[in-house]
Amino acid sequence: MDNVTKAAQEAERKITWHPMAVTRERREALLGQNAVTIWLTGLSGSGKSTLANALEQLFAEQGMHTMLLDGDNIRFGLNRDLGFSQEDRVENIRRIAEVAKLLNDAGLIVLTSFISPYRADRQAARNILGDSFIEVYVSTPLQECERRDVKGLYQAARKGEIAEFTGITSAYEQPLSPEITIDTTGRDLKACVLELADALKKLWSKR
Ligand code: ADX
Repeated sequence: MDNVTKAAQEAERKITWHPMAVTRERREALLGQNAVTIWLTGLSGSGKSTLANALEQLFAEQGMHTMLLDGDNIRFGLNRDLGFSQEDRVENIRRIAEVAKLLNDAGLIVLTSFISPYRADRQAARNILGDSFIEVYVSTPLQECERRDVKGLYQAARKGEIAEFTGITSAYEQPLSPEITIDTTGRDLKACVLELADALKKLWSKR
């Protein structure tokens, strides 16, 4: 949030922004890392959660301090009041971006694994997270996701048992310029994770 927006909110709602004595920079220095948010987006079944989990494992082995926010899990708790209407998905992503920001402020490297189907919402997340935001498009095509159908949801959606299912009866808007793109079709997990870790390292070295 920029200072003008913050000031306007403060005036209207009588709230005050308190700067923290221990800054994000200090927390990052204590942890010996730069906090970023690695934002995975893609269809259900594209491999987001699997990739994010394996990547976090690799990071942990390398001594990095991380936190993983996963679509299904977050909907059990923080976002259990939200469904899959456009309005609820917008709110889902907004909350996740704000949580990721808090975790980045704590110095942590955050991985998020949400379909996050709408371009505008991913842009809004980018606005909240600023330069820390890294968009990773898990571009596994619909045909492959549907072939895998790990949770049986595509079949249910085709039968009309699930309303507004992404890719079938609800839109997925592909990223136009993601920092990284990865298609998991026909590839083994280890190769995908190493490719992703490598792409991230290249990106970090340029920053
Ligand atoms: S998002 O669209 O709001 O970003 P999110 O990633 O949190 O979605 O949740 C997606 C997961 O919820 C899917 O992997 C699937 O398991 C489950 N799900 C249940 N109903 C739907 C639906 N209508 N559309 C998409 N995913 C659904």
